[in-house]
Amino acid sequence: MKLIKGNVVYSPRCGELVTLPHGALALSDDGVLTEILPAAPEKADAEVIDCGDALILPSFVDMHLHAPQYPMVGLGMDLPLIDWLNTYTFKNEARFADLDFARRTYRRLADDLITGGTTRVCMFSSLHTDATLVLMEELERAGVTGYVGKVNMDRNSGDVLHETTEESKRETLRWLDACGDFRYVKPILTPRFTPSCTDELMAWLGRLAEERGLYVQSHLSENLGEIAWVRELHPDCPQYWETYAKYGLWKDHTVMAHCVHSDEREREAMLRHGVTVAHCADSNINICSGVAPVRLMLDEGLSVTLGSDIAGGAMLAMNRVVTTTIRVSKLRAMKTDGKDGFLTVDEAFCLGTTAGHRWFGADGGFAVGKPLHAIVVDDGGFAEPVRELTLRERFERCVYLMDKSAIRAVWSEGRRVVG
Ligand code: GUN
Ligand code: FE
Repeated sequence: MKLIKGNVVYSPRCGELVTLPHGALALSDDGVLTEILPAAPEKADAEVIDCGDALILPSFVDMHLHAPQYPMVGLGMDLPLIDWLNTYTFKNEARFADLDFARRTYRRLADDLITGGTTRVCMFSSLHTDATLVLMEELERAGVTGYVGKVNMDRNSGDVLHETTEESKRETLRWLDACGDFRYVKPILTPRFTPSCTDELMAWLGRLAEERGLYVQSHLSENLGEIAWVRELHPDCPQYWETYAKYGLWKDHTVMAHCVHSDEREREAMLRHGVTVAHCADSNINICSGVAPVRLMLDEGLSVTLGSDIAGGAMLAMNRVVTTTIRVSKLRAMKTDGKDGFLTVDEAFCLGTTAGHRWFGADGGFAVGKPLHAIVVDDGGFAEPVRELTLRERFERCVYLMDKSAIRAVWSEGRRVVG
């Protein structure tokens, strides 16, 4: 048994924060969290890992990002979605036919994720099978866990980044066959978005999801031009979500990025089918997609998680995604004269941690009975406060100010992978 001692802070559910000054987490030898102790015992028959005055928080979960877009973070930020895809993104992703380039990029990405405190991801690769396997290897090596998808896209991508319908099917099967070797990183089916996939491919992916019990991720109602295009492509579907539902891709655990313009009917369909929203606040502002109604979604009982959406989003560090989520929710609150209340620090932190872990089946912030996902944050390097801060105040400052240099240790799936 192990005992990790420090100032424990977590959000068991949205709107609730637990602060345990000088608390502790008890772990089994194989890294499963067995107990959350409000007060660390003086003596323990266990290996003690003393974090001193540092804070112990749940790790972050990035529920939507594009690994091959890591080299283009901070580029093309003045274009709306479809132009941004055609001008920058597809050309950039085409580069991942080169496995040496993929290896270098993905090693860097995996290291930046884990040292930044993100231990679980739901991630898009590119359409390249071999580079996707390289990505999965690098995530495993670094200690990042979660789901990765080889992207399917057999139309509307220009000539630089194209697969035929047959290639897309064949390569998806080849990729799935090769995924069995991974322990912590699993495959998820990833039709890029409706305009990128023919009906035949979507139908085939839906059947594959059903046959093999695979989860699905994609994009939904991100941008008004995109929505109009989807309507032209599928005149039989009253709403965007129905283009996924029609083919069996709209189901429990399906992750839909953005949902900025999802109205009440579309949101109700999410709730009814157990679809999870990956809200990407930074991306939505960068490429002028809009401001998602996150408060409404939460009030309605939807599962809302957060994504960096690299590289529509320009920040990989999830604490910064959390604070951006707060700011963007305040924009919406001001626009609606307070009708849509903004998200508090505790709430947004919950979305970036607890809500994501819940999608993976580990509920409560710190999930007793599950392998530990946690970070240790040392706030000793921040400006000296004018008075002693409460643990709640220290937590708030950590959310706003922490960077890699403050993250002293990271546990992922029960293993200490940093520090
Ligand atoms: N919709 C389809 N592809 C993409 C992508 O790469 N990024 C974003 N933000 N939206 C998309
Ligand atoms: Fe995206």
